Amino acid sequence: MASGAGSNFKALLTQIEEKQLSAVCQFVIVNNGNCGAAQIAKAHGIPVYHISTVTHPEPVDYEQAFLDVVNTHAVDFLLLAGYMKKVTDSLLDRLKDRVLNIHPSLLPKFGGQGFFGIRVHEAVLEARLAWTGATVHLVSGDYDQGRILGQSVVPVFGGDTPEMLAARVLKAEHNLYWKTLRDYATSLGF
Ligand code: GRF
Repeated sequence: MASGAGSNFKALLTQIEEKQLSAVCQFVIVNNGNCGAAQIAKAHGIPVYHISTVTHPEPVDYEQAFLDVVNTHAVDFLLLAGYMKKVTDSLLDRLKDRVLNIHPSLLPKFGGQGFFGIRVHEAVLEARLAWTGATVHLVSGDYDQGRILGQSVVPVFGGDTPEMLAARVLKAEHNLYWKTLRDYATSLGF
């Protein structure tokens, strides 16, 4: 599930294509039909489902739309890769402990509501920390609260701008997500 540029999604696809990660990406759900992730999926022939409060104005339809997608594919794991909306409770219940997210900080630091995008890196620089990083965690009902599955540490350098730090962390994310998925899936017997 994605909302943005889709670089994490692309990195996962690359690992699948290069046979580093034994997986199949069956579909992508986006809340914005024009986002980069949707375009990457289309270019790879992967079905894109556009689900938003515009496409599904009735809350009950909105909630059901996610379940319909998941129920028409054999889903082992659902990965959030820059998905900016809250995951519905019924979807989390349906895929208990199988929904993962990636966050651009060392959670529990700089997580929760309001900590997204460049704001995370601005806050790290304001705190004058020497290290930041990325976290892959299970998705629970609250933002950035679920069990941590993997982390990667990234140095902060003097003179870093939030954009420079964001780029360094994003690179680490691309290397972290697929490895964490592989290790978590292995731990569950896949
Ligand atoms: C990443 O920094 C991710 O940690 C956060 O949103 C960003 C998505 O970037 N949840 P991209 O769309 O994968 O390029």
